[in-house]
Amino acid sequence: MAAISPSSSSSSSTPIMRYFTGLSLILSLTLCSLDKGFALAEGDSKERLLHQQYTHTVDLRSLLPATTCSPSTRGNKRMASLEVVHKHGPCSHLPQLKATAMNHTLILEQDQARVNSLNSRISKRLNGNEDLSQSEATTVPARWASSQNAGNYMVTVGLGTPKKQLSLVFDTGSDLTWTQCQPCSEFCYPQEEPIFDPSASSSYTNVSCNSTECVQLRTSTESDKCLGDTCPYSVTYGDSSYTTGYFATDKLTLTPNDVFVGFFFGCGQENVGFYDGSAGLLGLSLNKFSIVEQTAQKYSRFFSYCLPPTASSTGYLSFGAPSGASNAAVKYTRITNLSSSLELYCLDLVGINVNGQKLSIPASVFSSPGTIIDSGTVISRLPPTAYTALRDAFRAAMISYPLVPGPEKLLDTCYDLSGYPTVTYPKIEFVFGDGVTLELDATGIVYIFDGSNKQVCLAFAGNDNDIAIFGNTQQKNMEVLYDVAGGRVGFAPGGC
Ligand SMILES: *[C@@H]1O[C@H](CO)[C@@H](O)[C@H](O)[C@H]1NC(C)=O
Ligand SMILES: *[C@@H]1O[C@H](CO)[C@@H](O)[C@H](O)[C@H]1NC(C)=O
Ligand SMILES: *[C@@H]1O[C@H](CO)[C@@H](O)[C@H](O)[C@H]1NC(C)=O
Ligand SMILES: *[C@@H]1O[C@H](CO)[C@@H](O)[C@H](O)[C@H]1NC(C)=O
Repeated sequence: MAAISPSSSSSSSTPIMRYFTGLSLILSLTLCSLDKGFALAEGDSKERLLHQQYTHTVDLRSLLPATTCSPSTRGNKRMASLEVVHKHGPCSHLPQLKATAMNHTLILEQDQARVNSLNSRISKRLNGNEDLSQSEATTVPARWASSQNAGNYMVTVGLGTPKKQLSLVFDTGSDLTWTQCQPCSEFCYPQEEPIFDPSASSSYTNVSCNSTECVQLRTSTESDKCLGDTCPYSVTYGDSSYTTGYFATDKLTLTPNDVFVGFFFGCGQENVGFYDGSAGLLGLSLNKFSIVEQTAQKYSRFFSYCLPPTASSTGYLSFGAPSGASNAAVKYTRITNLSSSLELYCLDLVGINVNGQKLSIPASVFSSPGTIIDSGTVISRLPPTAYTALRDAFRAAMISYPLVPGPEKLLDTCYDLSGYPTVTYPKIEFVFGDGVTLELDATGIVYIFDGSNKQVCLAFAGNDNDIAIFGNTQQKNMEVLYDVAGGRVGFAPGGC
């Protein structure tokens, strides 16, 4: 059990001790509902035990990335498992990205662009006004997805014969997988790996314009007309980046045992507005051309991932259900639909607990429009009413620490924790409609700007659109399992 060390100079009059005393009063109200057999370890006070039950006490250094990569040895090797790395961390395979320090201003700006794009995508869908061919997509007829630049996590796959390694951002909010393709007849942005060259792959084929797949792609997307026999694709992202080119197939190699002949993807000839150095995107949404659907025969629409706790460690993206005994630690909650045609993964969030206390937020606040879980959004968003309740409860629990103005307006609850060897902050739990209570990992609660710890912020924000988004900071270090066929998403702690 971790020792609580409020500060290096602990005296009974420190603010932290006052906090402990105050907390024990609050908690004593809930004590009666605890199991009567609740045993106290010798030497532990009741307050301390209860306090630990509802809080994380962490050395902030453990939440910061190291300068060198320490790959995780976990991950289920029985499944098709790809290593997940943070784009900007020391485990990235792209040296140029690795060299650039994390620019948090940029990351949070891109994150807001993604949220804005999700918001308008969802509200247009809900208002039945999603005909992009008549609105912003006049110049680029398109299927529409959320900003890709924000998704911080990448995997490396093999494409073609002989196979070429490509590092792709993976995104549960997008369907079509695409990569930049030679000859880049319009425009390719700089990427670190050699750009995929279809003419050098013996297994590459263009999808024919009158094939079923081309018709399906175009029907579902208001796409443009065929040019000759090749089938065009376009994806426009909400931040005005877009990719367009030929709809194609080639051999996709995930691992030596997981090879998919005839995998459909976009061979991008004009790729504008991306600047992350990756080769493209791997789409994991619910749509027909996502990798989840295309590999359904082998993996039965089951995938899972673990996002590493810091940028200097690794996680995994695995396809297929875990074999052997089912992991009892996995808690599953059902996937709901925001609207029947939306391809995003929606969950039935109904409440939030902070410090073991249920926040008083009417469940209806979350029910309309609903909650999506998204691998590409960094900071979780909540309807304003829910965010305010969360923030107030967090601030109350953190009363002993100095609240300071944050460096970015998105995050409004920041502390200067530079003088504290360890910090104690409340546990946060998400409560779902089917009774599942999910405790977030300690790494998923605060956002740390740098090693000085002068700006440590609550990693949540409000969303004026009332849509709740379960973002990737809050998913860190958990195994997140998507059982699409079973209509459920599961979570297991300590996944990476
Ligand atoms: C970080 O990104 C912001 C926003 O794009 C930019 O204005 C700033 O110059 C960048 N900072 C560094 C150090 O590159
Ligand atoms: C695919 O289509 C493009 C555009 O028509 C063409 O330039 C290219 O040669 C085609 N590739 C193959 C392998 O047919
Ligand atoms: C379209 O399909 C028909 C039959 O389904 C085929 O005969 C024709 O050659 C195809 N057109 C092109 C341009 O490939
Ligand atoms: C969501 O809606 C689609 C289309 O109506 C349906 O096929 C699918 O089963 C729904 N999923 C769930 C989990 O309800």
